[in-house]
Amino acid sequence: MSLQGFLFPEARQFNMVLSTHPNPSAPVLTHFSLAGKTALVTGGTRGIGLEVARGLVEAGCSGVAITYANTDSIEADRIALSISESIAGTPKIIAYKCNVKSKEAVVETVERAARELGGKLDIVVANAGIADHIAAIDYPEDKFREMIDVNFHGVFWTAQAAAKVMESQWKAADAKSGEGRGSIIITASVSAILVNIPQRQAAYNASKAAVVHLAKSLAVEWTEFARVNCVSPGFIATDMLSVHPEQWRKQWFQMIPGGRLCEAAELKGSYVFLASDASSYMTGSNMVIDGGYTLP
Ligand SMILES: NC(=O)c1ccc[n+]([C@@H]2O[C@H](COP(=O)([O-])OP(=O)(O)OC[C@H]3O[C@@H](n4cnc5c(N)ncnc54)[C@H](OP(=O)(O)O)[C@@H]3O)[C@@H](O)[C@H]2O)c1
Repeated sequence: MSLQGFLFPEARQFNMVLSTHPNPSAPVLTHFSLAGKTALVTGGTRGIGLEVARGLVEAGCSGVAITYANTDSIEADRIALSISESIAGTPKIIAYKCNVKSKEAVVETVERAARELGGKLDIVVANAGIADHIAAIDYPEDKFREMIDVNFHGVFWTAQAAAKVMESQWKAADAKSGEGRGSIIITASVSAILVNIPQRQAAYNASKAAVVHLAKSLAVEWTEFARVNCVSPGFIATDMLSVHPEQWRKQWFQMIPGGRLCEAAELKGSYVFLASDASSYMTGSNMVIDGGYTLP
C-alpha cells in the first residue's frame, strides 16, 4: 500500500485529485475570468461582502446571491438591483434573508440560491461576521456563545451546505472533467494570527483562529470537489470599524506599516483570485491582506 493510501484510505478509493487548471498556458487574465459561474456571499449587503459580490460579477459571474440578517429586505433588494444594473449584461443578483446561526436556514438558502441561479453554485463566500470588545474575565456567556455561533458555527454551516451542493454537482458531472468543482472562501481576520490591542476581543480572535484551521481541515477532506481558502483582512473601513473610539484608531495607524485603513473594495481582487482558476493549486491557504500589520 502506498503511503498516501495508508494515510487516506478514501483518497485511494476515490483517486482524490485537486481540480486541474483547464488551460494553464492560456493568457494570464483569462485565468481570473468567472464567466458563467454562480456565487453566494453571506453578509453581502454591506461592507466587505458587498464589495466581494461586486467583484465576482465584475469578473464575469452570471449570478450572485447576497445574504443578510438585519438589513431591511427592501434595502437588500435595492442593493441587489443596483449591483446588477451597474454591470453590462445585468447579471442576476438575488438577496436572501438568512441568519447564519441557523443551520436549517443556511441549508435552505444555499440550495435555493443554487436552484434560482441556474441550477448550480460554483463559489461560496462565508463572510458574515460580528465583532465585540469585552474583557475576557467579564465575558457574559450569552455574548460569548453568540460570537462563536455567528463567526464559527455560521461559517461551518455555510461551508458544509456549499460542499454538499458542490459534491453532488461534481458527482453528476464527469468526475475527471473538473466540471462542478467549487471554491469556498472564508473571511477570517488578522485576529486569527495575532492579538489586537488595545481592544479586548478574545472571543472574536478565537473565532477567527478557529475558521482558519477549519478551512485547512475542510480543504483536505473536500479536495476532490472544492478548494477551501481564507482571506484574512487587517483594518478595513466598514461599519465594523466605525464604532471604535478615535484613540484606538490613532493607535492602530501607528501599528500599521501601511499607515492607513483599507477600503473594502481593495479586497475584491483577492476573492476573485481565490474563486477563479488563477488559484487552481491553492487550497487550505490563508491570504493575509493587512498593509503589513502582522509583520513587525
Ligand atoms: N472590517 C474589518 O476591519 C475586518 C477585518 C478583518 C475581518 N473582517 C471580517 O470581515 C467580515 C465582514 O465584516 P465587515 O467589516 O464587512 O462588517 P460589517 O460591515 O459589519 O458587515 C457584517 C456583515 O455580516 C452580516 N451578519 C452579521 N451577523 C449575521 C448573522 N447572524 N447572519 C447572517 N449575516 C450576518 C451582516 O448582515 P446584516 O447587515 O444584514 O446584519 C453584514 O452583512 C466579518 O467576518 C469580519 O469579521 C472585518
